[in-house]
Amino acid sequence: MPDSPTNKVGSSAEKKFAQHKHKVRLYSLDNTYSYRDLELWYERLQKNYSLDTPPELVCELKIDGLAISLNYEQSNFVLGATRGDGVVGENITNNLKTIKAIPSKISANIASLEVRGEVFMPVDVFERLNDIQKQNNAKVFANPRNAAAGSLRQLDPEITRERMLSMFAYYGRIDSDEVSIKSHSEMLEFLKSQGFNINPNYKVCKDIDEAIKYCKLWDDKRKKLDYATDGVVIKINSFELQNEMGFTARAPRWATAYKFPPEEMSTIVEDIEVNVGRSGAVTPVAVLQPVFISGSTVQRATLHNFDEIKRLNINIGDRVLIKKAAEIIPKVICVTEHANNKLTPFEAPQYCPSCGTKLVPAEGEVNLYCPNSRNCPEQLKAKIEYWASKDCMDIDGIGGNIVSQMVDTGLVKTPADLYGLTIDDLKKLNLVADKSAQNLYNVIQSSKRPVLSRFINSLGIRHVGKEMSEQLANKFLTLQNLIKSDYNELLAIDGCGDKIASSIIEFFSDSYNNDILEQLEKYGVVPQDVEDKRISKILEGMTFVITGTLSDTRDKFSAMIKANGGKTSSSVSKNTSYVLAGDNPGSKYDKAAALGVKIINENEFKKMIGS
Ligand code: IVH
Repeated sequence: MPDSPTNKVGSSAEKKFAQHKHKVRLYSLDNTYSYRDLELWYERLQKNYSLDTPPELVCELKIDGLAISLNYEQSNFVLGATRGDGVVGENITNNLKTIKAIPSKISANIASLEVRGEVFMPVDVFERLNDIQKQNNAKVFANPRNAAAGSLRQLDPEITRERMLSMFAYYGRIDSDEVSIKSHSEMLEFLKSQGFNINPNYKVCKDIDEAIKYCKLWDDKRKKLDYATDGVVIKINSFELQNEMGFTARAPRWATAYKFPPEEMSTIVEDIEVNVGRSGAVTPVAVLQPVFISGSTVQRATLHNFDEIKRLNINIGDRVLIKKAAEIIPKVICVTEHANNKLTPFEAPQYCPSCGTKLVPAEGEVNLYCPNSRNCPEQLKAKIEYWASKDCMDIDGIGGNIVSQMVDTGLVKTPADLYGLTIDDLKKLNLVADKSAQNLYNVIQSSKRPVLSRFINSLGIRHVGKEMSEQLANKFLTLQNLIKSDYNELLAIDGCGDKIASSIIEFFSDSYNNDILEQLEKYGVVPQDVEDKRISKILEGMTFVITGTLSDTRDKFSAMIKANGGKTSSSVSKNTSYVLAGDNPGSKYDKAAALGVKIINENEFKKMIGS
């Protein structure tokens, strides 16, 4: 069978950790990008929870590393795992045991304690590591976060130990009658007393104005720290209030992350290259004199399109200001000094730099496109790289260099060709020592049963990204259902308008795409169907807004709505089917009444779903 364990033997080192289901989900955080947003968040909480006095806050630096969960039983460290998707992570206990900042035993007598925190690599360790990697001709890490991630997921804990990782703990959950902790700041101090590393820069703030002062102070001071931070996490201090506020589908209501504005740096443009992306879009890229900015060395920055080159009036040799926020592609903001005004201005190419096909403008877009989507080598490389990437088929180890060779040697012309590659084919490639042809073969073969959403994402249907792929998978449950879907069914999906629906229909009507799908199936590349978790479809097509205090948390009611095929939304509009109102409902109730949206109480709701 394609998903048999024997197919997984020898798969990449990083896939060998056992899965660990977290006892309590690890939530994400909502982001805010302005002080005004912070004020609004705080005002909203005060209003929604009828708080007479401004609630106390704790401000902490947001560490740019990897979230982990540490479990202590009878005061001993027994299991540590990565965050994963928040529900299931990987058991990396042995590697975490090598980190000095993680105590193997605590002094308090506690039956069960979970500590969460961020593992990171100090910047000086990162720079030393990269120097050594360079000397050994090994992979250089793009930033401390990637280096920490790579170091945590080593099969040999001794390598993790050598990497000198550290950790800051920012959360604790205790199962004990003896220790009673009532606030986040008390929890931090308790964790510190037990030997955990707590970031010393946290501050208890009496209100949002003080928290904003903290953000302003650290926006500058962070540049002097020996670890990367990308913002400030602001949390309601009182546990009682935290419990009352609870969580949305993805994040706590009682916390928010303020993201620092992107850092800016000055450097020189050494060259302007032209890239061809997987959709054929041709974009200019500035090749820069390397600068260290927001935790990594930047050597290239996007110039978006050829109009942007004109707008910036940029040319080779110019001094420019670039900006980069963590995870965001670096961008050129402006030219600060022209090198030589007499240089001929950089002109948009007329022909594809990869295959020589005449470029065409796209309707309604400023970009130029290479229309040779099936044979242009650069496009093909970008498509295959995308196909193998983490949010798609997740074929580990198929990066730029290997894909490039596969396409240049003519071994791979479509994603399906990957699965027909033999070990002998792979031996023709120039592989680095730790990736044998056998290894690569196994990794490819063991990737043949992806979950449906990732398979859909891999297809690279225009305008269909990760989130839409998830929606499509949840709606249609099988690939066949999606292929058969019609325009109106697609339009019924949240966020799917005419552009996306037409693009999906067009994709599955194209015989070239169907040939690839058929070939994939022949090779056993078959996505897993989605298990239908709905208990009924009674609420299908209906959108609910929940407001006021109900007999259980909003999350519980939201889950009931989804389990019966309905959707929830946070704001009332004319598209809202029902407002489910509890006690003290507030402004959503008034808005529903004004718009004539039906308002129901808990009993009426329960009758609807027959419970
Ligand atoms: S609190 C429910 N505090 O940020 C509370 N998170 O964007 C959630 N992070 O996955 C986390 N520093 O990995 C918290 N001081 C801090 C943090 C922090 C970094 C990370 C964490 C989380 C991510 C969410």
